[in-house]
Amino acid sequence: MAERPGDDRPADWMLREPPPGDERLAAPAAARNAAPLAAVLERLLPDADSVLEIASGSGQHAVFFAERLPWVTWRPSDTEPTALASIAAWRRLAGLHNLEAPRALDVSAPDWWAGLDPVSAVLCVNMIHISPWQSCLGLLEGAAALLPDEGALILYGPFRREGVETAESNEAFDRSLRQRDPRWGLRRLEAVVEAAAPHGLALAEVVEMPANNLTVALRRSASQADPAGGISGSGPQGL
Ligand SMILES: C[S@@+](CC[C@H](N)C(=O)[O-])C[C@H]1O[C@@H](n2cnc3c(N)ncnc32)[C@H](O)[C@@H]1O
Repeated sequence: MAERPGDDRPADWMLREPPPGDERLAAPAAARNAAPLAAVLERLLPDADSVLEIASGSGQHAVFFAERLPWVTWRPSDTEPTALASIAAWRRLAGLHNLEAPRALDVSAPDWWAGLDPVSAVLCVNMIHISPWQSCLGLLEGAAALLPDEGALILYGPFRREGVETAESNEAFDRSLRQRDPRWGLRRLEAVVEAAAPHGLALAEVVEMPANNLTVALRRSASQADPAGGISGSGPQGL
């Protein structure tokens, strides 16, 4: 955690529940996974200039990660007006020079990336299973358009994986998601990797995270673009 000269707030202030009636939202899952995820991001993004965060939600991650990775310009976004207001409110309190104002971005919209500056990496935490598959496809296409060669799209969340038994807690979560919206639900990692391939995004790393979640890094390489959409070009799968 960065030193906080002249700031007597606890280091994890942005992960704590705001007072009732506050514009800031609080996400218990974000408070739990922020530190383990930040440790992975520090390792994956040692040279990144800028990160576009898709589906920033409450904005707590944006503040936490911008503070932990001060060399990165952090670009939060979401599609929901309440989320955008919350991100803006956390950002105002944080006063971080490297945290930009939130952008309204809906990755299921056509060409959602048009007019955005290229970024070193795109991060999307806990969205692709809480949104129609179309959002995942839009995320893959737009991320590939914004990333340079070797740039990373980093996904976090629960996944199904071939040959790996899905934890009962994730099965129950999947059922509850599908009840809320039949288009939602846990994604198969292999399906995501297959959909990413035509955009030149190949699996680079899978990191097992607490509570049966995964961090998945896909790296962009023009030479790996595969119009057939196969997964044979996938990179090493570290655990
Ligand atoms: C479960 S929340 C996760 C928020 C945050 N990433 C976190 O981990 O706390 C899912 C978020 O995805 C956003 N979202 C859903 N569909 C989206 C889309 N098509 N484009 C961008 N964001 C979307 C929602 O507004 C919501 O903020």
